[in-house]
Amino acid sequence: MKALVLSGGAGTRLRPITHTCAKQLVLVANKPVLFYGLEAIAEAGITDVGIVVGDTASEIERAVGDGSAFGLDITYIRQSAPLGLAHAVLIAREFLGDEDFVMYLGDNFIVGGIADLVDEFRSSRPDAQILLTKVPDPSAFGVAELDVSGKVVNLEEKPAVPRSDLALVGAFLLTPAVHEAVRGIEPSARGELEITDALQWLIDHRCDVRSTTISGYWKDTGNVIDMLEVNRAVLERVGGRVDGWVDADSEIIGQVTIEAGAEIRGSRIVGPAVIGANTLVVDSYVGPSTSIAPDCRIESSEIEFSIILAECTVRGVRRIEGSLIGQKAEVTPATGVRAAHRLVLGDHSKVRISS
Ligand code: DAU
Repeated sequence: MKALVLSGGAGTRLRPITHTCAKQLVLVANKPVLFYGLEAIAEAGITDVGIVVGDTASEIERAVGDGSAFGLDITYIRQSAPLGLAHAVLIAREFLGDEDFVMYLGDNFIVGGIADLVDEFRSSRPDAQILLTKVPDPSAFGVAELDVSGKVVNLEEKPAVPRSDLALVGAFLLTPAVHEAVRGIEPSARGELEITDALQWLIDHRCDVRSTTISGYWKDTGNVIDMLEVNRAVLERVGGRVDGWVDADSEIIGQVTIEAGAEIRGSRIVGPAVIGANTLVVDSYVGPSTSIAPDCRIESSEIEFSIILAECTVRGVRRIEGSLIGQKAEVTPATGVRAAHRLVLGDHSKVRISS
């Protein structure tokens, strides 16, 4: 069995972060979201992995390399444009050969991994098996309709009027039957070859498409609120560890990871939290559910429930909450101008000020 990991696409909902960073490489608890997926694939006993890449190919290749760090053998498959999930299957035909495979969306996060699901699929081997989960906003996803016996009867991509609250999760277990399906469908109104249409094609051609509904934690990390939520959930599972340096005036409470080369001086860190390698935290408070990436400088500030990416400076700011701050950003008070905000924001930035 092989795996096809989708890491192309544009990541428009995570702008401006994704102007300079592939959305699959945004950090969750200081680790790219894509790495969790690759680890889950390795845990399921799959080693032969194709990664579909687009404009951000070089960045993904730099981060993942040949896959040996994950115990995987990686083949990169270039997609000329994000023409849809089924299009990714179409262009991966040669890599996939006639083997079964799991298609895993590189921006998805499935807590508990996929090993049990892969085992179940291997033993029952329907033509396709999809994962579903109940969501409050189904129109943002592919939506499945089941009949009374639980059989999948209809699939629709981001319907305005959803027929159920069951969203497609980003891991699909597929057999070579899907190849005829992806060749048999037409692009949707938004110009993409939809995986929902390919699965519907299989259903219409009397193939056995089964579903498993998962109630465990699942998130599509395509937007900021989901990213912060996934970060919170992952941090709660990571135990604390201090490899960096903490002075006597600092207080570390709960599960806090302080990576090598980080320095904490005169500060209070309340976990779950992670402070990246070579980051300096001085006279500050870092609160629960916060990840601070390597090489940052946090001085005289308060930060809670946030993700701060590499090489940021935050100085004299009380307090930052529910925020995602991109690489090399600088957040400091406006000097000499009282009760005024001075902003230099990249395209597509979103700022919520407290006044
Ligand atoms: O997250 C689950 C949802 O993923 C499902 O419920 C939907 O049925 C499915 O279509 C998909 O919807 P999204 O709108 O979230 O897909 P997105 O465009 O974000 O792409 C998912 C991943 O696949 C992401 O890592 C980018 C990558 N991708 C996407 C497209 C369209 C590619 O590599 N190539 C592509 O052509």
